[in-house]
Amino acid sequence: MCGIVGYLGKEEAKDIVLNGLFKLEYRGYDSAGISLYNNKDKRFELFKDQGRVAHLESLAKTAGASNLAIGHTRWATHGKVNQINAHPHESRSKRFVVVHNGVIENYKSLRRDFLNGMTLDSETDTEVIVQMIDTFAQNMSAKAAIQKTLGLLKGSYALLILDNKHPDRLVAAKNKSPLLLGKSDNGFIVASDLVALAKYSQNFAPLDDYSVAVIEGNQVRFFNKDHAPQEVIFEPMDFDDDLAEMGPYPHFMLKEIMEQPLVVRTIINKYFEDERLVMKPEILAAMAQSDRVYILAAGTSMHAGFVGKSLFEKMTDMPVEVHIASEFAYHPPTLSKKPFFVLISQSGETADLRACLMHIKSLNHQVITITNVRTSTLAREANHFLEIFAGPEIAVASTKAYTAQLIVLTLLAYAYGKQTFDIRKALSELAHAMESYLTDYETIEMLAKTVLTKRNAFFIGRGVDYYVSLEAALKLKEISYLQAEGFAAGELKHGTIALIEEDTPVFGLISDKRIALNTRSNLDEVRSRGARTVTIAIESLSEDEDAIVLPDVHEYLRPAMMVIPTQLISYYAALQRGCDIDKPRNLAKSVTVE
Ligand code: F6R
Repeated sequence: MCGIVGYLGKEEAKDIVLNGLFKLEYRGYDSAGISLYNNKDKRFELFKDQGRVAHLESLAKTAGASNLAIGHTRWATHGKVNQINAHPHESRSKRFVVVHNGVIENYKSLRRDFLNGMTLDSETDTEVIVQMIDTFAQNMSAKAAIQKTLGLLKGSYALLILDNKHPDRLVAAKNKSPLLLGKSDNGFIVASDLVALAKYSQNFAPLDDYSVAVIEGNQVRFFNKDHAPQEVIFEPMDFDDDLAEMGPYPHFMLKEIMEQPLVVRTIINKYFEDERLVMKPEILAAMAQSDRVYILAAGTSMHAGFVGKSLFEKMTDMPVEVHIASEFAYHPPTLSKKPFFVLISQSGETADLRACLMHIKSLNHQVITITNVRTSTLAREANHFLEIFAGPEIAVASTKAYTAQLIVLTLLAYAYGKQTFDIRKALSELAHAMESYLTDYETIEMLAKTVLTKRNAFFIGRGVDYYVSLEAALKLKEISYLQAEGFAAGELKHGTIALIEEDTPVFGLISDKRIALNTRSNLDEVRSRGARTVTIAIESLSEDEDAIVLPDVHEYLRPAMMVIPTQLISYYAALQRGCDIDKPRNLAKSVTVE
């Protein structure tokens, strides 16, 4: 969701910033723009439009040579998707140019109080920032004007600011929205995401909330909330740029589905030493002092959280609740006496979770973040964190990060519950089973074509199969735009069965012996009302007519196996409909606004 990149150095700034914007595409966006300082003409050039970064690249072909540039991918929050609202935004006098990621909540009152109600060119909250800096700079230094403006902003921002009176300076500022600085021998790069830095920098320095970075010539200075100088601490990147490439696959999503056995093996390598599971003792100790676990997450990560709840309740004596992050943040439930919080977030940047984290920290409770991005805000700000090691997930629809979340949750429950079965062996078997199933993935293509003929579809199951059904339905909705619902199989007949008509697709998930027959009865009920049913069953529970039969794996790891055919069904449904699989409409990979 929105991404920004800036560069100041000896290399061609346009190429570096455009490359960064291409890398940020996966976050989801609807417009893109770039502004650069034309070395020869000594002026800013600005190119922006709705549409893809490739379109921006062709617009910017005529740009002159430059060593300073800022770029942006916009996911509209204030104002329509059009050229005027796209970033960068220029001030009236054309002195300052700004790109912004985040939301300025008080932009209307700022416009009224500090800009005399100035009529703005765009409908964005961002334009207010650049006009304020320009207005203040008429009576004070640019540095003071920027400081004064930042002090008045309420909301979230990652900002890059250019000033044509200082073409050797790039100013970056942030609050809540992520911003990272990278450096190479030839210059500095600032971006909202490591993927945009990786090609140019071996290390990075994250900016703190309310801090400002001033890059000037070949040096960078950080200033904290009180404008005092701050040490710039670089950390090693540990990010393999090649993993973020598509390779031989037509889409990142298919690549990432196929990578799931590799992810399971990576997790084994990272979490086991000499065949023994190594779980951070401080996490287990913090949990041991609590009386209840609260899992907070959104979307796919929340669906992983539901499976996590069930695993915890099977493997430990710890009660667990799962809450929607955006609800918990402002309507927290009555908490137990000693709660322990688990935030699950693939990106580690989800604004709804950040709001929860602020609340939890204000109450002094212990919190752990389970995330794919070790450098993310939620990983840094929680008391503890666990990495899921899924590798870069570029498709907006999460697949391998979901299975990695499931596995790390299983390991946490296993370690806390002092289980003794051979989990390492069970994980190796899972990786093997996934691999063998994934060799036959193309048969799903035909199924998706023949079964998904209506506007809607249902996924039903009981217990963990219900939780996987929720995820299956979300995936289908996200990328194929079919209306899909995940349902507790037994609940269907209490109302929703009214939607079943001739050929309505209903997928039944069966991986739990105790309720296999009940789910089969529910499938019979819808079939006798005309539904087109497809059963996805684990081999030991399968029957001859089941369409999809999956290899048996340990019962605690079955959700990670069951989800795979449902991911492929969504993929092929979207492919057949000609949808933009990796960048579905309206969606963003990293949801940085509440
Ligand atoms: C769906 C998907 C989203 C995210 C949700 C939370 O494929 O990826 O539903 O799960 O936006 O994001 P994270 O996990 O980054 O907190």
